[in-house]
This record gives sequence, C-alpha cells and structure tokens, in this order.
Amino acid sequence: MASLQPRFLTLPLIFIIIIISSSGHANAVPRVTFPLESPGRPFTLFTLPDVYNTTTLLLSDDEETLFVGARDAVLSLNISKAGSLQLSKKIDWSPTENDLRDCTMKGTTETDCPNFVRVLQVLNSTHMFACGTFAFSPRCSYISSEQFSLAASPSGKTEEGRGRCPYNPYHKNTAITVGGELYTATVADYRGNRPVISRHLSEGDHVDMKLDDTAGWLEDPTFISSTYIPSEEKVYFFFSEMGREYDFIDKFTVSRVAQVCTSDVGGQRTLQRRWTTFTKAQLLCQARDELPYNVLQDITTLRPSEGASEDDTLFYGIFSSQWSVNSGRSAVCVFSLRAIKAVFAGNYKVLNRDTLKWSSRMQEKIANPGECGLHNASDNALRFVKENFLADKSVSPANQGLTLVSPDQRYSNIAAQRVKGAHGREYTVLYLLTESGYLHKAVLLEGRAHIIEEIQVLRQPQRVKNLLLSVSKGAVLVGSSEGVASVPVSNCSHYWSCGECVLARDPFCAWDPTRRVCARVSSIKDQAGQDVDGGNVSKVCNTFTTLVPRGRGSIVTGAPPRVLVSVFLKEVVRLRCVLSSQLAQLRWERPGGELSPDIYMQEDRGNLSFLATPTTLGTYMCQAVENGFTQTLVVYEVRQKDDFTLRPTSKSPTRIPEPGRETTTRPKIETTPNAIEKKPTMEKTQKPTLSATVSPVGPNATHAPADGSTNMPQLETRTSYLKELVAVSVLLVICICALLLVAAYSLRKSYRSRTVPRLPSLHRDPGTTEGGTHQEREALRGNSPQLDKHNGQKSPNTPSNGVSNGSNGHLPNIPI
Ligand SMILES: *[C@@H]1O[C@H](CO)[C@@H](O)[C@H](O)[C@H]1NC(C)=O
Ligand SMILES: *[C@@H]1O[C@H](CO)[C@@H](O)[C@H](O)[C@H]1NC(C)=O
Ligand SMILES: *[C@@H]1O[C@H](CO)[C@@H](O)[C@H](O)[C@H]1NC(C)=O
Ligand SMILES: *[C@@H]1O[C@H](CO)[C@@H](O)[C@H](O)[C@H]1NC(C)=O
Ligand SMILES: *[C@@H]1O[C@H](CO)[C@@H](O)[C@H](O)[C@H]1NC(C)=O
Ligand SMILES: *[C@@H]1O[C@H](CO)[C@@H](O)[C@H](O)[C@H]1NC(C)=O
Ligand SMILES: *[C@@H]1O[C@H](CO)[C@@H](O)[C@H](O)[C@H]1NC(C)=O
Ligand SMILES: *[C@@H]1O[C@H](CO)[C@@H](O)[C@H](O)[C@H]1NC(C)=O
Repeated sequence: MASLQPRFLTLPLIFIIIIISSSGHANAVPRVTFPLESPGRPFTLFTLPDVYNTTTLLLSDDEETLFVGARDAVLSLNISKAGSLQLSKKIDWSPTENDLRDCTMKGTTETDCPNFVRVLQVLNSTHMFACGTFAFSPRCSYISSEQFSLAASPSGKTEEGRGRCPYNPYHKNTAITVGGELYTATVADYRGNRPVISRHLSEGDHVDMKLDDTAGWLEDPTFISSTYIPSEEKVYFFFSEMGREYDFIDKFTVSRVAQVCTSDVGGQRTLQRRWTTFTKAQLLCQARDELPYNVLQDITTLRPSEGASEDDTLFYGIFSSQWSVNSGRSAVCVFSLRAIKAVFAGNYKVLNRDTLKWSSRMQEKIANPGECGLHNASDNALRFVKENFLADKSVSPANQGLTLVSPDQRYSNIAAQRVKGAHGREYTVLYLLTESGYLHKAVLLEGRAHIIEEIQVLRQPQRVKNLLLSVSKGAVLVGSSEGVASVPVSNCSHYWSCGECVLARDPFCAWDPTRRVCARVSSIKDQAGQDVDGGNVSKVCNTFTTLVPRGRGSIVTGAPPRVLVSVFLKEVVRLRCVLSSQLAQLRWERPGGELSPDIYMQEDRGNLSFLATPTTLGTYMCQAVENGFTQTLVVYEVRQKDDFTLRPTSKSPTRIPEPGRETTTRPKIETTPNAIEKKPTMEKTQKPTLSATVSPVGPNATHAPADGSTNMPQLETRTSYLKELVAVSVLLVICICALLLVAAYSLRKSYRSRTVPRLPSLHRDPGTTEGGTHQEREALRGNSPQLDKHNGQKSPNTPSNGVSNGSNGHLPNIPI
C-alpha cells in the first residue's frame, strides 16, 4: 500500500511543489511587438500560386541561392539582392496517379499523399540530392545543379528513399552531406516504428552504413538535427527518445546527442557495415531544483568566433517539458562541443542485451566507445561497444542553467548568430520561432536574455516549418505552408531617438550622433552610441548632447510632440498615450500638480480620462519610464474652447508651434478626434501614435454642461469601487496563498522523500536521503541511476540474443 501512495500523490504534489518553487527565472518579455504587416518591420513573402508547403530550406554555400523543398516541387530562389526572393527555377516532382491511388488505398488521407520533399542537400559541385515522401513510398533523386532538373542516378536505377526520408510528411527527420556521402536519421517504415541512422551514397572502400538492427540502440526517437564537425571528423545527431535507463519513471523522454565517425566502415566480422562508433549521451536542460525541460524541439550549431578552438562550438537547443506544469513554455539551453566531447570520453553505462536493462556497473574497459578507428578493433572490443554506447554522464548546459525561458509560448525553431556590436563587442543573437508564428529576436547578456522584438511572420500556426539564417544577407528565412518569408535581421531606423535606440539593446543598431539617427553599427563612422549590456541611456546619450547646437531639442528623447486639446467645460477629456515598449511603465504628469485618482482615471497602461473643469485645464505629459530613463512621449495642452464656435481658429485643435524644436524624426501627430479609429490594429507597431480624443458629451455641444455633470459622479464611483475591490481581492489572494503554502509545506515534508520530480537542493548530502529519492533525484539531474534493484523486471522488447547479426526480421542486413 505504501508504495502506491507516492504514485497517487505525484501529480498534485508536482503542482504544489512547482507553485512553491516557482521562484525561478524572470521570463523574458519581448520589448516591442510587430503584428503582421506592421510598417516598422516589413518583410518579403515568396509564394507561387501552384506551390505549397515550402518547408524544407537549404542555402547554397555562397548564400546567393535558396533551395526550397516543397509539395511536389523543388525550387531555386535567387536571394542575392537583400530582401528579395526571386524564382530562378522550379522542378516538378510528383507521384503518378497510380502511386496516389496506392497511397489512399493504404488508408492515408489524400492531402498527405503528395511528394513532400524532406531531404535537400548539395552533394558536389555538379549535383544535388533530394528525397521526398512520394505518396508514402519515399523516393530520392539526383538534381543536376546546372540545369536544376532531376538527373538520372549513376547506377541508372531509381533511388530508393527508404531509410533516407520518412514515409509520413509529419515525421521528423534530418540529413546532412559530408564529402559527397549522405548521413540521415529517419524512420524507415510506414508506421514510423523503425528508426535508423545511416550513411548512403558511399563509394569504394567506404561502404554504406547503418545502425545495427538489434534492439536497444534507439528507443522510439524523434530526430531533430545533425551537424558535421570537421576537426573531429564526426557527425553529431540530435534527437529525443524514451529514456529507458530511467525505467522507474513511465515514458520519460530524454534528449540526446549521438555521434558517428565519418571514417567508420563497420567491423570485419562483428558489426559488419554497422556503425562501430555510435555513442549517445543525454542533453540536460534544467534549472536547479526544477523539472527538466526534457524534450528537444530544435537545435542549431553556432561555430566559434574566428581564431577560437573548434571545441568552443556551441549548440543552442529549444526544449519543452513533458510535464503539464511547464507545458506552455520552452527553455533554451546551450551546450559546448567541449562538454559533449568530455562526456563521450568518460564512462559508459552497460546494456544487458538479454534484459535490455541499463546499469552503471563498471566493466573492464576493452575499448573506448565512440573513438574513431574502431572498425579495425577486435570482435571482443566491438562486442564491448555494443553494450557500452550510452555515456554515463549527461551533458550539462554551458552556463549550468537555462539560457532563456519563453514568456508564455512554445518555441519550435531556432537560429543563432554572433553579432559585432559597437566598440568591437560581440553578442550572441538568437532567432526563435514560436508555435503561434512569431519570430523572437533575443540577445544574450550576462546571465540573462533580452528579447528585443517579436515579429509576426505567420498568419496561422503551422505544424511543419523551418527557420534558416543567412548571415551574409542579413535575413532570417522562414519556410512554411504560407510561403517563404525573408525577414531582415533588424530595422534600426524604427528607433527614432537616441534613448529609444539605446533602450532597444539591439546589437545591430547604434546611435549615430553625426546623422542623428539610429543606424546599423557598420554604417556608423565613429562614436556609435550603444549599450547592449546596460541599456543605460544617460550614460550613452548624454555624451552627445553637448555636441548639439542649442535650441534644437534633446536628441536623447527627440522632442516630444505637443498637442493642443480644446474642450468645453464639464466635457470628459480622454488623452491617449500608447507605449511601444512592453518593458516601459507609463506615467502621466502635470507640472506642479498631483494626479489625484479621485479626479483622474487612468486606463490600464494608457489613456487618461478626466472631466474638464477650470482646475483640470492645463498641461499633461505622458511619460515612459524604462530602465531608469524617463522620456516624455507627448505633451497635451488642454484648453477651454471659445464659446464663439464660429471663429475659425477654434474649429480644429492646432499644434502649438515650437520653433527650433527638432521634430522631423518624430512620428506624425494626428490631432483629429477620430485619428485613433483609423488604424486600430497597428497601435503597438507604430512609434507611439499620439492623438487626443475629445469626447463630446451629449448629442450637441450646447447640452454638454448638463450631461457632463451627471457623468462626473459616475466616474468617481467607478474609481472608488475599484479601490475597494482591489483591496478585498488582494486580501483574499494573500489568505489563499498562506493557506496553500502551509498545506503544501506539510505535504511536502511528509512526502518529499517519495516525490519523483522534486529535486532537493544539490547541497544536501545525498547519503542522508533514502534510496529511491536519491536515485530519482540523480536520474532527473542526469547522473547514472542505480538500476540494479530493478533487474528482475521483464522488458517488453527482450531480444532473442545479443549477437551482432541478430536477424529479428526488422531490417534486412544490408544497409538500406
Ligand atoms: C523601418 O521602420 C520605419 C519606421 O517604423 C519604417 O518606415 C521603414 O519602412 C522600416 N524599414 C525597413 C527596411 O524595415
Ligand atoms: C501542407 O500545407 C497545408 C496548408 O496549405 C497544411 O494544412 C498541411 O498540414 C501541410 N502539410 C505538411 C505535410 O506540411
Ligand atoms: C540573381 O539576380 C541578380 C539580379 O538581381 C543577378 O545579377 C544574378 O545573376 C542572379 N543570380 C542567379 C544565380 O541567377
Ligand atoms: C557529383 O556526384 C555525381 C553523382 O555521384 C557524379 O556523377 C559526379 O561526377 C560528381 N561530380 C563531381 C564534380 O565530382
Ligand atoms: C584500419 O582500417 C583502415 C581502413 O579503413 C586501414 O587502411 C588501416 O590500415 C587499418 N589499420 C590497422 C591498424 O589495421
Ligand atoms: C547609468 O550611467 C550613469 C553614469 O554613467 C550612472 O550614474 C547610472 O547609475 C547608470 N544607471 C543605471 C540604471 O545603471
Ligand atoms: C485608449 O483609447 C483608445 C481610443 O479610445 C482605445 O482604442 C485604446 O484601447 C485605449 N487604450 C488603452 C490602453 O486602454
Ligand atoms: C447638434 O444636433 C443636430 C441634430 O441632432 C446635429 O445635426 C448637429 O450635428 C449637432 N451638432 C453637434 C456639434 O454635435
């Protein structure tokens, strides 16, 4: 009975524990949001009327051409001109009617039967190679680069796609070419149950290779990505799979990095034509004392900066969590090649090939698993390799924690870039695509991340999409079923003042004091104003103000526009102010006057409403406070309207002239009452759209006084009710929290030793905890669990034996 209890309690406990320990990291919030078609962040979208699902992307080496694998087509786009995507050539490549009929007969929905191109690689100077799902019967083809057309294979046969490309277009796969050979990781059957990592198109002594057929090498994996590291002569694969070494947690997903040597040609007797250098290790994306983000979604390779060792190669991965408490979010973790190499060079867990159970017991080391050149090793050594291919230690993040946690969305794709900021400083910029179709651009700072902006690039969430970065073209390429989007990496001219330019913390952008614009760092001759790390406006911009001729206003903030608002007494006045930055606080000010909440009503983050009375006439300033810097966005001058309405001067509100003030870089100010209604959807995108609305009360202005006076108390009542409501709510919340805390703490105390996901502090002496907890804690932390006590359990996949050629009827023994 006692052993059952923890299971029952696990879920609620996880919940409570997370509430308690959700002290975590502050989530980064995008500073500025650009919805679709915002003027501040336009981008190019390539579509063709008869081309769909443009989701597989490949850049040519010179980054002048973008190849696109689509539905029944392969495209070549000329991207040599910044921001342009021009169709050069198109290959039509569809299954025949017969193929399609067979496909639908197998029970596949018709929309999934076309040929979705999923592998697209450059083989050599004359040829490319492509594979597609081809009506659930994958097929590959050479492509002649010169004509950009399908080409016959040297053997003259049609190129089989099995083991190179998935059957189902929704199954993930990865492929990479190294020296004219194609390395792939995919599922090699209709249902997607037969994962395989293999090499194809090998010639001469270099034979085609694949993973041994016996069970245990891969456990229901989802392949994500692959990369080649020349100095190591290794191809690394990234995927997630079932963590069978954690057999005390049901269906625990783990993320992995695996490697094979490109020199591998398989063993002489044992492991013939099978990888002898395949090893894998767990990638751990986890903050201290929290549940791990365990499911890899995408990972990108960031090559080291010039002159640095290749060991400084970094891998930025997006991880989500299989537990519902973190389900809406993603974390980014970074791993160094150095750390991966160290883990692969260490000890290995041992797979008992009869029971398929893992243990950490040390075996006498007969070989170094993963070492290149093992194909020459003895049978004995290769048998050792077959049992020792899962590294004992996990790969921990380079900074021992999470690089970034998404605010409230899941990320699906990632790209990374090193950017030279002003003063020669280098920053890492990440591009992250959310599942809802927004592109986040984040810069990594000391110990945290700052999301500079988010740009909506997709109308609809997409199941299949891809992200690719062209550093030389300064464009982020997004492939989806909506087309191929090319988004410029930055638009510095969106920031209209030195203050905004610095607050943005965009390493691409700096303030140019000579031209007095925010511009690309590379375009600024000297004295570029930038503070990506601190975002300290006064530090950067004040040094320039001395250069500015007198009377030209402040370049720190730009001159705030002044707006005249003419009102009748007892009218309700509503002053509008929109913050573009989600990190700023909005503040309304009157010179020498408090804004008493009894008289003024401030809508959430914005508009100010009040009744026009002789005391409320005057000047109002809307200010944005961000990172210790206050800038005035707009100044309103509220005046009493003349009674003589026929006088032309009072017909429309007029701009107060500000001679000598610099206003050219400011947005246009509209003062007509209906200015707001014109473009309601673009609010966030524009530099603060500044306008004043004066709501006339009653059908006719002459009736205003009477109606206005009845409005006044209404306003006040609303305000005072609000206050009380807030007070009561706060009290209630505090009470509930206190109760929850007490309950949770006592629960946690009594069950902490049995809860699975709770990770007690690392400082605690592991020896003092009971066996089960210790094991699980270690497990979740990624260290080797002690599995011996579970050895009696039966595994569903027990193979007949562990001999190399174990023909269990799954795959033919020749490489596919
Ligand atoms: C940059 O932003 C400005 C102002 O929002 C806009 O007018 C301009 O078109 C944008 N330019 C580019 C290249 O995105
Ligand atoms: C192809 O595009 C359509 C929308 O045009 C989408 O519904 C479908 O899921 C896409 N299929 C694949 C395999 O990406
Ligand atoms: C791409 O277009 C440019 C003109 O925009 C042209 O000069 C160039 O030759 C084209 N490149 C290819 C590969 O077609
Ligand atoms: C590129 O590969 C193809 C197919 O294997 C081969 O026919 C062709 O000769 C190769 N081209 C070069 C320049 O090596
Ligand atoms: C190892 O195998 C390679 C072929 O891959 C061969 O050229 C080399 O001589 C072998 N080395 C030894 C020590 O057997
Ligand atoms: C900004 O810099 C100034 C001087 O350079 C310094 O006094 C101030 O404390 C800094 N502000 C912040 C928020 O770091
Ligand atoms: C401010 O007022 C405008 C027009 O009355 C309205 O569209 C907008 O939503 C208001 N802003 C806020 C933050 O309430
Ligand atoms: C006053 O009312 C009349 C009729 O209801 C209307 O035609 C007129 O436009 C109104 N004037 C103002 C200033 O609202």
